[in-house]
Amino acid sequence: MTVSMTPSLDEWLDRARQRYVDCRPVGARMHAEACEVMPGGNTRTVLHHAPFPLRAARGWANRIVDVDGWEYVDMLGEYTAGLYGHSNDVIRDAVRTALDDGLSLAAHNTYEARLARLLIGRFPALELVRFTNSGTEANLMAVSLARAATGRPAIAVAVGGYHGGLLYFGGGGSPVNAPYETVLLDYNDVEASREALREHGPRIAAVLIEPVMGSAGCIPGDAAYLQMLADEARAAGALLVFDEVMTSRLGPHGAGAAYGITPDLMTLGKYLGGGLTFGAFGGRRDLMEMFDPSRPGALPHAGTFNNNVLTMAAGIAGVEGVLDEEALEALNARGDRLREALQAAVSPYGWCASGRGSMVGLHPVPGPVRSPRDLAAADDRLRELLFLDLLERGWYMARRGFIALSLEIGDDDVDGFVSAVRDCLAERADLVGVPR
Ligand SMILES: Cc1ncc(COP(=O)(O)O)c(C=O)c1O
Repeated sequence: MTVSMTPSLDEWLDRARQRYVDCRPVGARMHAEACEVMPGGNTRTVLHHAPFPLRAARGWANRIVDVDGWEYVDMLGEYTAGLYGHSNDVIRDAVRTALDDGLSLAAHNTYEARLARLLIGRFPALELVRFTNSGTEANLMAVSLARAATGRPAIAVAVGGYHGGLLYFGGGGSPVNAPYETVLLDYNDVEASREALREHGPRIAAVLIEPVMGSAGCIPGDAAYLQMLADEARAAGALLVFDEVMTSRLGPHGAGAAYGITPDLMTLGKYLGGGLTFGAFGGRRDLMEMFDPSRPGALPHAGTFNNNVLTMAAGIAGVEGVLDEEALEALNARGDRLREALQAAVSPYGWCASGRGSMVGLHPVPGPVRSPRDLAAADDRLRELLFLDLLERGWYMARRGFIALSLEIGDDDVDGFVSAVRDCLAERADLVGVPR
């Protein structure tokens, strides 16, 4: 079902924007000031939205408060990096301890190998691991390693895939992408992707893919599709790289392991730094050993803050002291419940819910969403309107309809969010004439 009465929708959106502006004089002023010193007042594109972006003053547990004093339940969970919430005591204590022992030590420290051991114990694909400062860097390093190891130039990626600021393959690809030769695959299209991999196989160093596409809309890979990628990569002599920057939270051993597939390399990020700046890449020993600096001709991998004590300490505290199997399973079960309840609530209005476990997408299309192509017809104004309507009711999710649960979100929050979404769509349905 599609929305036809666009003037009403535009009017409704104008009103929602105006209310947003009227309620946030401090946010408006601070945004104007930020624009004097940063392009668009912004240093992280995803956070930008009209009329001007939400500006948080502080947060605790599952709440944030904006600079005008409005409080929200945080359903966004820092795009999966905020899994522990905003003030987990175990993590705060670990950071304080690390702080007391001094910053910027310019030496190996007592933390990094501990975190490496914990991650290797958790994710079967990892035999050796190295740290970076972001998921973007982790993917750049993994792909560069694959190119060095295979001597081939190209990477195969999904259309619409997001693997970091320099590795974005939506909308025809980003002009600031790292200049790798790319082979584009249609996510979940077994036949077309197999054909592309066979055609370009000898040039492909790595197939870089998310087991569940995150930023592209929370789209789970079919098991048969991911297995085909693994088989074809092997047959072509290319490496399979799972980008698990978001998805490693979807099972006790990551999403790849949940599908029963072990990639040659995997990348990590987000919550595994305990809420601080983090990235990691690792995998097969023979590949990762190419970075061993004690070997002649070792590949270089630099990064002033790769082993920064705050991230390392917070990461260890999270994995060791908070995120056991039980906690992770409960989180993902809650996400499944949220998605099912949302699907029931929104489908009468022509929307659908997608995702897996604690990662949920809300889309203004009837679905199912099996590839980014299925979202091409989505009316982005509907996304913005729901986002603004939810803010007004005290709920914060991503402007694009992305939700990532933190451990601080309880069943009451799930129920409250579902009824808020239902109310928003019901209220708007009368105005814009969306069929029920
Ligand atoms: C799947 C995936 N890979 C890589 C990245 C990049 O991570 P970072 O923002 O830490 O550079 C992201 C960030 O959203 C991501 O979702």
